[in-house]
Amino acid sequence: MEVKTSLLDNMIGVGDMVLLEPLNEDSFIMNLRNRFDHNEIYTYIGSVVISMNPYRSLPIYTPQKVEEYRNRNFYELSPHIYALADEAYRSLRDQDKDQCILITGESGAGKTEASKLVMSYVAAVCGKGQEVNKVKEQLLQSNPVLEAFGNAKTMRNDNSSRFGKYMDIEFDFKGDPLGGVISNYLLEKSRVCKQPRGERNFHIFYQLLSGASDDTLVKLKLDRDFSKYNYLSLDSANVNGLDDAASFRTVRNAMQIVGFMEAEVQSVLELVAAVLKLGNIEFKPESRVNGFDESRVKDKNDLKEMCELLGIEQSVLERAFSYRTVEAKMEKMSTTLNVAQAYYARDALAKNLYSRLFSWLVTRINESIKAQAKTRHKVMGVLDIYGFEIFEVRDNSFEQFIINYCNEKLQQIFIELTLREEQEEYIREDIEWTNIEYFNNAVICDLIENNQNGILAMLDEECLRPGTVTDDTFLDKLNTICAEHQHFESRLNKNSKFLTDHSLPHSCFRIQHYAGKVLYRVEGFVDKNNDLLYRDLSQAMYKATHSLMRQLFPEGNPAKVNLKRPPTAGFQFKASVGVLMKNLQTKNPNYIRCIKPNDKKVAHIFTDSLVCHQVRYLGLVENVRVRRAGYAFRQPYESCLERYKMLCKKTWPHWRGPARDGVEVLLTDCSVPTEEFAYGRSKIFIRNPRTLFTLEERRRACLEDLATLIQKIYRGWKSRTHFLLLKKSQVVVAAWYRRYAQQNKYQKIKSATLVMQSFIRGWKARNILRQLKYEKRCKEAVTTIAAYWHGTQVRREYRKFFRANAGKKIYDFTIQRIMQKYFLGLKTTTMSPMDNSWPAKPYGFLEGAHTQLRRIFHLWRCKKYRGQFTEEKKAVYEEKLEASEIFKDKKALYPSSVSQPFKGDYLEIQKNPKYQKLNSAMEEKVLLADLVNKINRANGKGSPRLFLLTKSNFVLADQKTGQVKASVPLPDLASVSVSTQSDGFFALKLKEGSASASKGDFLLSSEHLIEIITKLHRIGTTAADRDQINIDISDEFLVQFKQDKVCVKFIQGGPKNGNSAACKRKNNRLLEVSVPSP
Ligand SMILES: Nc1ncnc2c1ncn2[C@@H]1O[C@H](COP(=O)(O)OP(=O)(O)OP(=O)(O)O)[C@@H](O)[C@H]1O
Ligand SMILES: [Mg+2]
Repeated sequence: MEVKTSLLDNMIGVGDMVLLEPLNEDSFIMNLRNRFDHNEIYTYIGSVVISMNPYRSLPIYTPQKVEEYRNRNFYELSPHIYALADEAYRSLRDQDKDQCILITGESGAGKTEASKLVMSYVAAVCGKGQEVNKVKEQLLQSNPVLEAFGNAKTMRNDNSSRFGKYMDIEFDFKGDPLGGVISNYLLEKSRVCKQPRGERNFHIFYQLLSGASDDTLVKLKLDRDFSKYNYLSLDSANVNGLDDAASFRTVRNAMQIVGFMEAEVQSVLELVAAVLKLGNIEFKPESRVNGFDESRVKDKNDLKEMCELLGIEQSVLERAFSYRTVEAKMEKMSTTLNVAQAYYARDALAKNLYSRLFSWLVTRINESIKAQAKTRHKVMGVLDIYGFEIFEVRDNSFEQFIINYCNEKLQQIFIELTLREEQEEYIREDIEWTNIEYFNNAVICDLIENNQNGILAMLDEECLRPGTVTDDTFLDKLNTICAEHQHFESRLNKNSKFLTDHSLPHSCFRIQHYAGKVLYRVEGFVDKNNDLLYRDLSQAMYKATHSLMRQLFPEGNPAKVNLKRPPTAGFQFKASVGVLMKNLQTKNPNYIRCIKPNDKKVAHIFTDSLVCHQVRYLGLVENVRVRRAGYAFRQPYESCLERYKMLCKKTWPHWRGPARDGVEVLLTDCSVPTEEFAYGRSKIFIRNPRTLFTLEERRRACLEDLATLIQKIYRGWKSRTHFLLLKKSQVVVAAWYRRYAQQNKYQKIKSATLVMQSFIRGWKARNILRQLKYEKRCKEAVTTIAAYWHGTQVRREYRKFFRANAGKKIYDFTIQRIMQKYFLGLKTTTMSPMDNSWPAKPYGFLEGAHTQLRRIFHLWRCKKYRGQFTEEKKAVYEEKLEASEIFKDKKALYPSSVSQPFKGDYLEIQKNPKYQKLNSAMEEKVLLADLVNKINRANGKGSPRLFLLTKSNFVLADQKTGQVKASVPLPDLASVSVSTQSDGFFALKLKEGSASASKGDFLLSSEHLIEIITKLHRIGTTAADRDQINIDISDEFLVQFKQDKVCVKFIQGGPKNGNSAACKRKNNRLLEVSVPSP
């Protein structure tokens, strides 16, 4: 829904001066200042827009703003130039009314900017499309071109328009732009030759020199240095904030967009260059014979270059600067020009060249932007004319007079149209018209333009009059003719009123313009009005080969020599202003009145006096009065009802009937006095702003209540929505939670059920199992019991058939069988006592028996073996046994003796005849006869001896003879000593004191040592009457040799000693036997 807003919303001061209370100049200015301070530069007087120049860029011209104001009613938003542009454009498009936008204000007030804003707004809101966009672009781009050639820096404005401009923009029935026509008014051409202090020539000169490429400058024969040109003022050549070089590029670009050919641009620049060159031409006097001074060109270089640029023959131009041809009554006369005249001619040429170039530019632009279609156009005219100009310091001259005249005309049309519009509205709305008092400046216009005695007419008259014509004669004329006029003032006036007025010099006249009094100095009026260019010069120009010159100086065509004087400048201007006024009168006017806040061209400064002056001469307060004369405020019924309907219960919130009735009900209900308003056809007219403000006040209060109500309802709605949302959420949450809880509970129950179920099933199964097992056991028990019972029965039955100890028998039998098998197994063992083999035990229980059996068997086997022995063999074994007892593990010789049978008689003594004698000498049976070695104590060597043993003694006899050497009874034998080693040495030790002892002990060696010693020992053990013979086994023992005891020591010898042991005497007491190592 679109929100209806109003100008009255958030107003700073009052947005529409019509609502100002109280209305006077001070409050008016206060309001302007207040708004200006708050960046509100636009204020309305009804439909007129007052625009204050902010002198800085404000963010109020953005595309968003354009959109904001687009298609909105004029009073709907805060005042803006866009609102006016929109209103104008819409009434042009929708109501088919041609529009004109009249922008007025003094120099620097922002007219040109305002015109551009209007154009850009219209361009933004009108139709789009390739063709339309091109047209728009061309229309917009005509501005930079015209500004470059027609604007200049002045004291009041850095970009002051030095020409008047009226532009008709043409639209088709849809409101799309088709093209345009530009009219220009009176370029201030005097600026070309001379600029007041602190001001500049037209921008294009500076732009060309700063921005053109070096190439271009060479082609144009120009130098970048401004100081080289007489026509360029130097003191303000560079203007702050103006980039001439960049502007030049913009201008060239704009010319291209507008449709200038490259050659045309070049021609234009050549003319600009020519003007600069022209300014540099200087003259010197040359005396002629007849006493007249004749001028000559001083330095012909500039003249030459200028002629080259324009394609003029140098001599022709040179002559034109020295002579002047005067034609009178078909007669031609040539007069010389003095230096002053030459300079006048030069400047006139420069001014004309430039101003005609400017007009040509306008024509050329018009050609480009001309609407193509021949259909009827709707037109929006934008008038940006130079503002009312009063110079306090400088003299106001012809130009100011013309400008101010133009402004008078505009003011007049303004008043006329405003009043007319007001009146028309009252008629349209059927409201009674009350006459309004206002100042009508028609009388001033009449003073200037009256065809008979107007100032312009008189100036023309003076200019055309034969005879000496000067500015003074013109002033005289004015003094006589206009003396009575109430707006004309002059010192030389017959009217005594000004005779003593020293502020009014003699060479001046003063006009009371609608905007104030202006003092004009008459000097130059005639000349400027004449605007003469010597024919010689125009003809010289016409002859130029430059492409534009013929168009610019058509009067120079010799074929069309016209002796009639060209129309004066004043006349031309009056005519064109007349056309303009007529044009404007046919259109619906829209006013923008620009106001300059200060003289310093800076932001934020509001000079009351300056603004007051402008407000006065623009007649703004007057304007408000006119507007308020009848009714101050008017508004369509619909808007009024929409805005104030909340003030009455009957109209709030909706009024069902017609809006007019609604407003009537509303105003009656609000007790507004009836004289305060009038009902028009479509609008309500409110007489006093106070009434409106009261309504506004009540509305504001009401809005607060409404806001509270809306707030209340909104809050209620919001809380309720919130609550409902919470409730809904809570239900959702609860549902989810319940579901979750139930799910959980169900899961628990389910798993519990499963557990219980499984337990019960298990329990049941176990019960069944138990039952089954029990049954099975029962069955088994039954079987067992039955078996036992059957057994018992059977046994009971068959007992009589078995012996009571059958079991034992069986047992015994079994054991017997086992034993039988066991014993049979033992059968494999041999009878050899040497056999150690014995079968493994078959049963654990036989372990003891098994070992015992083995022992017993062995013993038995040995016994068996022994039982086979003969007596002799038995004796031999006994001896062997005894030898074992004596020597086993004691003497190393023993093992080798085990296998040797004890033969006893090795000498076969009984058989050998050799020993017959000896044998016979033996009293007892010889138990042993052997050959031994008797060891000699002296050297240890042995000598063989026969050794014989009987039960009672032993005998040593010579080996050869058999002669007994010694016979020793065994009781004399104390002990026998042998070594532990494998030798055969032994010592027979005799008891001390015995008979045999005298000869000493015997140290012998025998191969059968073991047998000999065993037998000796056996005799000792068997003989009951004797002591047992000691057998001493050690490797060192003593032997008694007669008196001495000799030690016999056995040592292990090396193998070199041979197989037998060798005895060596070591000393008297030691015999050493070395025994070969085994
Ligand atoms: N609406 C605006 N916003 C910002 N700056 C502005 C505005 N209007 C004017 N100006 C500034 O003021 C300067 C003068 O404005 P402008 O040239 O429009 O004045 P003018 O009324 O056309 O004067 P003249 O009669 O000398 O041509 C501009 O160059 C610009 O700097
Ligand atoms: Mg301007």
